[in-house]
Amino acid sequence: MNKFILAMSIFVLSGGLSASDCGITVNGNDMMQYDVTTINVDSSCTNFEITLNHSGKLDKSIMGHNIVIVSTESFDEIIGMINMDAGIDNGFLPEDGRIIAKTAMIGGGETTSVSFEAAKLESGKEYTFFCSFPGHYGIMRGKLAI
Ligand code: CO
Repeated sequence: MNKFILAMSIFVLSGGLSASDCGITVNGNDMMQYDVTTINVDSSCTNFEITLNHSGKLDKSIMGHNIVIVSTESFDEIIGMINMDAGIDNGFLPEDGRIIAKTAMIGGGETTSVSFEAAKLESGKEYTFFCSFPGHYGIMRGKLAI
């Protein structure tokens, strides 16, 4: 019930735009690739939702994917914190205020999503989205901007 009310509120606050205008679906596969390299957040969005679908078959412990969003200027420091000790449920990252959004880590056949306030993004600033599974960010990364 609460989720339904929240969903309706987001719809109303976003001016009744269709959900696709304030969200995007990104697919990840067993070849360690996303099918999207650029995400443009419309400035009229109150919230923006990223859905991640893992179209592969491999388990998350082998080919896990998530989506983490940080400013490009903090990217190098954030990936420097990727650490097995932080655990797969945390995307192998400790909590950090510079992380704007982070989905769960998923494996083949799974889907997850994360919603964040568009107001967390600054116009004209460049952001990077990437997978924080150890070793994946080199290939699994793209740009995000509002
Ligand atoms: Co990955």
